[in-house]
Amino acid sequence: MILVTGATGNVGGEVARALSAAGARVRALVRDTSDTPDIPNVLPADVECVTGDLDDPTCFATVLRQANGLFLLPGFGHTAELLAEAAVAGVERVVLLSGPSAGSGDLTNAVTRSMVESETLVRASGLEWTILRPSGFMSNALEWVPQLAAGDVVRAPFADVAVACVDPSDIAAVATLALLEDGQGGLVHRLTGPEALRPADRLRILAQVLGRDLRFEPQPDDEARAEMAQEMPAEYVDAFFDFYAAGALDDSHINNTIRNLTGRAPRSFEQWATAHAEAFPHP
Ligand SMILES: NC(=O)c1ccc[n+]([C@@H]2O[C@H](COP(=O)([O-])OP(=O)(O)OC[C@H]3O[C@@H](n4cnc5c(N)ncnc54)[C@H](OP(=O)(O)O)[C@@H]3O)[C@@H](O)[C@H]2O)c1
Repeated sequence: MILVTGATGNVGGEVARALSAAGARVRALVRDTSDTPDIPNVLPADVECVTGDLDDPTCFATVLRQANGLFLLPGFGHTAELLAEAAVAGVERVVLLSGPSAGSGDLTNAVTRSMVESETLVRASGLEWTILRPSGFMSNALEWVPQLAAGDVVRAPFADVAVACVDPSDIAAVATLALLEDGQGGLVHRLTGPEALRPADRLRILAQVLGRDLRFEPQPDDEARAEMAQEMPAEYVDAFFDFYAAGALDDSHINNTIRNLTGRAPRSFEQWATAHAEAFPHP
């Protein structure tokens, strides 16, 4: 039984589906089943859902009962308690979703600090651990859905920044391998997609896939800051500006890790967009 956190999200959902397809017993941690009525449509029927919250340690023993594996999201305040409870429950392996900046170790950046803290706890947990540091996700393009519903223009920040964006299903393939197969303990995998794309490149590919005439407009920094501040703490806004405006993170580097581990090429943004075209408004 593998407990998958974030199973209603982009990566956790792919992990739950991939583990289920590989024949594993999967339990999905879901914050509020009544709030997510489409779960039967997004998770296979054989995935058991359990209600819980990573911010609520009182649920940890219950959600981890009989689990022997754990797929863990980073950045939650009670990760130490969760990992301690996992050891008590008999969990042997944990795969942590981290991020590319963790490699820098720059604790003055709040995003990096949060990833490093999660990684440190996982390494000290006594469980067999594997850490995944993927590039920016292709699924981040879903943030454009409201703009694409309102018109044909997408405004986005950091227009000049190319990212070797990665398909969540490729992250999930590696997570599945690390949870189900031997030999991945103690490894940190930097995962990238096959090409480095700027936001305008991604929009151009998406436009071709959707058959829409779409236009990209660089969002000025002050406008982006104000918008981001409505969605995240100020120190996270600063962290992303540190990464992409000050250049502290180069997420454009491409490597062969996904191919080497899974035996197949990482999916292109065009493949991701084609697979998820239904999530975007059509003409
Ligand atoms: N986006 C990137 O480019 C990128 C790159 C590297 C690493 N990461 C890391 O990857 C993580 C996952 O990304 P994603 O795109 O899969 O995220 P997502 O689609 O936004 O999904 C987040 C998931 O976390 C769950 N969640 C949030 N708060 C929770 C809580 N208190 N207790 C239990 N579950 C909770 C959500 O559940 P609900 O449905 O209940 O909200 C959802 O299932 C990010 O949070 C980030 O730390 C992201």
